[in-house]
Amino acid sequence: MKEKEISLGVIGVGHWGPNHVRNFIGLPNCRVAVVADSNKEALARVSKQFPGPKTVQDYKKLLAGDAIDAVVVCTPTSTHYKIVRGALAAGKHVLCEKPLSETGAQAKDLVRLAKAKKRVLMVGHVFVFNPGLLKVKEIIDSGETGKIYYLSAVRTNLGPIRTDINVAYDLASHDISIFNFLLGKTPLSVSASGMAFLQPGIEDVTFISLRYPGDVIASVQTSWLNPKKVRQLTVVGSRKMVTWDDLELVNPVAIYDRGAGLTGDYRGYGEFLRIATWDGEVRLPKVSPEEPLKVQDRAFLDAVLGRAPVRSSGEFAAGVVEALEAARKSLRRRGAPVEL
Ligand SMILES: NC(=O)c1ccc[n+]([C@@H]2O[C@H](COP(=O)([O-])OP(=O)(O)OC[C@H]3O[C@@H](n4cnc5c(N)ncnc54)[C@H](O)[C@@H]3O)[C@@H](O)[C@H]2O)c1
Repeated sequence: MKEKEISLGVIGVGHWGPNHVRNFIGLPNCRVAVVADSNKEALARVSKQFPGPKTVQDYKKLLAGDAIDAVVVCTPTSTHYKIVRGALAAGKHVLCEKPLSETGAQAKDLVRLAKAKKRVLMVGHVFVFNPGLLKVKEIIDSGETGKIYYLSAVRTNLGPIRTDINVAYDLASHDISIFNFLLGKTPLSVSASGMAFLQPGIEDVTFISLRYPGDVIASVQTSWLNPKKVRQLTVVGSRKMVTWDDLELVNPVAIYDRGAGLTGDYRGYGEFLRIATWDGEVRLPKVSPEEPLKVQDRAFLDAVLGRAPVRSSGEFAAGVVEALEAARKSLRRRGAPVEL
């Protein structure tokens, strides 16, 4: 039997939305039928680049009727809750850009609605589909790294500066999704410090520490106000250490046979415990160069077509939003830890 063709609408075609349009146009079993954006110029730009899809300024027109099966929501974060709620209520499958919402309560409400409507709710935590990070996950899950001690991430650049959410919601949402994905857990507590240098109340630099079950700690530094673009992660385990650098196109992942531990070479009570370090080989595993957004968009279609379970689900995204909300509370309390 011929598989159904999914008729898709993309809401929000500013900076990021056109990348979804391009990827979905290139995928089988899918037709980008409509794009919506309240900004006429954004619609004109996308029509020039991708002629074909109809354009509308009011996204509600796209949600009305049965012509569209699924939508991609790629508008600013502060609008996600309302638009995603409307789309699910209208019976559409939804792929929403990250972060899903501003509060955990909103995220959980959307998860409940998607369940009630029996619709796919997936969130564009694109790094969960990044071949380099899938490799890091494979290495951790194989036991090669031993017990994970800590993870640390840095994500900085000069801009783009958002006006509706702080830099943690914009950028640390990526790293928290990476931590939760790699550890298969959500944090127990979050503390954050940061500053709003450019816009009152909207932090442009944050330092967030997270505590996970099993005495694992993680930290992420994010900034819109930094001379250098950095996207890096370090995972330190009891047996090996792993690094990932998103800007390294050929070898983004490196596995270091390096570490430190107690040696058997100590003489009992009252004596020094000896800690020895080791410094062995570095391995650069092969990583597929496939575009992560394409992998993610294909996974959404697979979920809508019932070919694969939903990855980066609404529940997963709610875990990220709850951590971000905790970070925001901690920022207001000058870094005091917030329990989850
Ligand atoms: N996964 C990633 O790596 C990645 C990268 C960039 C952005 N994003 C996410 O994508 C989303 C959009 O980011 P962006 O950089 O494209 O923002 P943007 O501001 O460049 O574009 C947003 C577009 O949405 C439109 N819009 C706003 N409100 C609307 C409404 N009510 N109805 C219809 N259109 C509306 C705006 O006119 C604009 O064209 C954000 O959630 C962001 O976090 C994700």
